[in-house]
Amino acid sequence: MSLRIGAVVLLSLLSVSAISAGLGAAAEYAGHAGKGKALYVNLCIRCHGAEGKGNGAMTFTPPVADLTAPAAQNKLDATLLKTIHDGRKNTAMGAWKFVLTEEEMRDVAAYLRVLGTGANRTFP
Ligand code: HEC
Repeated sequence: MSLRIGAVVLLSLLSVSAISAGLGAAAEYAGHAGKGKALYVNLCIRCHGAEGKGNGAMTFTPPVADLTAPAAQNKLDATLLKTIHDGRKNTAMGAWKFVLTEEEMRDVAAYLRVLGTGANRTFP
C-alpha cells in the first residue's frame, strides 16, 4: 500500500518537474534573429521599413514607430514583446498573437535588436 502511494507521489513529482522544465525552456528562448528577419520582411517591413526606421511603404496617424530609435531600443525585450503580442490600441500596430506563435514573436523581437545595431544590411 505505502509502496503504491510512494509510486503515485513519485510519478506526480516527475510530471511537475517535467512541466516546469518545459516552461523554463520556453521562458529562456531568446529568439532566432535569422528566422525573425524572414518574418519581419514578410509582415513588418511594409510599415516599419527595411531598416526599421518607420519609413515603410505605408504611413499612418499616429506614425509608425522607428524601431532603431533609443525610444524602442532602450525598452526591455519583454516590453517590445508585449507590444508585438498585443499591438497598440487605436494605432496601426496590430496584435500579432493572432498570427504568430510565441516562438516566432521572440524570433522577430530578436531581429529588432539587429535592426537596432544598423547591421541589417550585412546580416546573413
Ligand atoms: C500596419 C502597419 C504596421 C505593421 C504591419 C507593423 N507595425 Fe509595428 N507599429 C506600427 C505603428 C503605427 C506603431 C506605433 C504605435 C504607437 O504609436 O504606439 C508600431 C509600433 C511598434 C512597436 C513599438 C515600438 C516602441 O517604441 O515601443 C514595435 C516593437 C513594433 N511595432 C513591432 C512590429 C513588428 C515586429 C511587426 C511585424 C510582426 C510590426 N510591428 C508590424 C505599425 C505597424
